[in-house]
Amino acid sequence: MTAASKPAQQPPVDNSYWVIVPAAGSGKRMGADKPKQYLPLLGQPLIAHTLQNILSWPGLAGIVVAIAANDRDFATLVEAANPRVHTVTGGAERADSVLAALDYLSTQAAPETSVLVHDAARPLVSVDDIRALAAADPMALLAQPASDTVKRAAQSGDKSCVTETLPREQIWLAQTPQKAPLETLRQCLQQGLKANPTAITDEASALELAGFKPQLVPACRSNFKVTHPADLVLAEALLQHRQQSGAQSGIQQ
Ligand code: C5P
Repeated sequence: MTAASKPAQQPPVDNSYWVIVPAAGSGKRMGADKPKQYLPLLGQPLIAHTLQNILSWPGLAGIVVAIAANDRDFATLVEAANPRVHTVTGGAERADSVLAALDYLSTQAAPETSVLVHDAARPLVSVDDIRALAAADPMALLAQPASDTVKRAAQSGDKSCVTETLPREQIWLAQTPQKAPLETLRQCLQQGLKANPTAITDEASALELAGFKPQLVPACRSNFKVTHPADLVLAEALLQHRQQSGAQSGIQQ
C-alpha cells in the first residue's frame, strides 16, 4: 500500500481528563424549597443536564461529584448509576467541596492528571467550550469578556455610588470549567484556604494567589450559572432551543 492510498489516521482521543462537579450548595439565593441543582429543568433535575453534557465529551475519564452530607436526591438520578460517576461528601464552602473531591481523586489518578472543575449549576456548558478549554494552557478557565461598562462602587449611607469606571477591555467574568493539574490545584487550594479563605471564590483565585496566571478562554454566553429564579426561565428556553435545533453547542457571543 502506498502512502497516498493509506486510510487517513485519526489522532487518538485523549480521554484522560477528570471533571469535578461541586454540587453541595444549598442555593439560598434561589429561594426554592430544595437546592437549585435539583430544581426541574425541561422535566429533569438541573444537575442531570450538567452531567449529561460532561458525559458526552469524549475526553472524559471520570466525574467526581461533591454532594451535601444530607443529600437524598443524587442517588435517584440516572447518571448516579454511571460507572464513570463517583461521589464524595462536600464541605461548608464551594472550595471545601472541591478540595474534598481533589483529595478523593488523588487516590484514583496521577498527580499530573488534568482536572476540570465545573459548577453543577451551569447546565448549559457546551462540549465545544470544554474542548477549547482542554486545548488551552495547562491552567485555564472559561470566561466571558465584559460587555457592559464596569463601575467600581463604594457604600454611601444606604446607597452604592460610583467611584470609578474600569477599563472594560481588561475585565472578564470567570465561569467554569476551570482547569489545572490535580496536585498543583490541590496544594494551591489547601494553601489559599489557610492564608486567605474569603479570597478563594474559584480555582483560578487559588492558583493566582500562588503566583500562576491561568489562561482566559472565551465561553459561549449561554454558560451562565443558574442563581436567581429568572435564570431558570432563561436556561429552560435555551435548552429548548438547543433541543429543537439539534445543536450541541452553546449560543455564541
Ligand atoms: O452558590 P454558588 O452558586 O456560588 O455555588 C456554585 C457551585 O458550588 C454550585 O454547583 C454549588 O452546589 C456548589 N457548592 C458546593 N459546596 C458548597 C457551596 C456550593 O459544592 N458548600
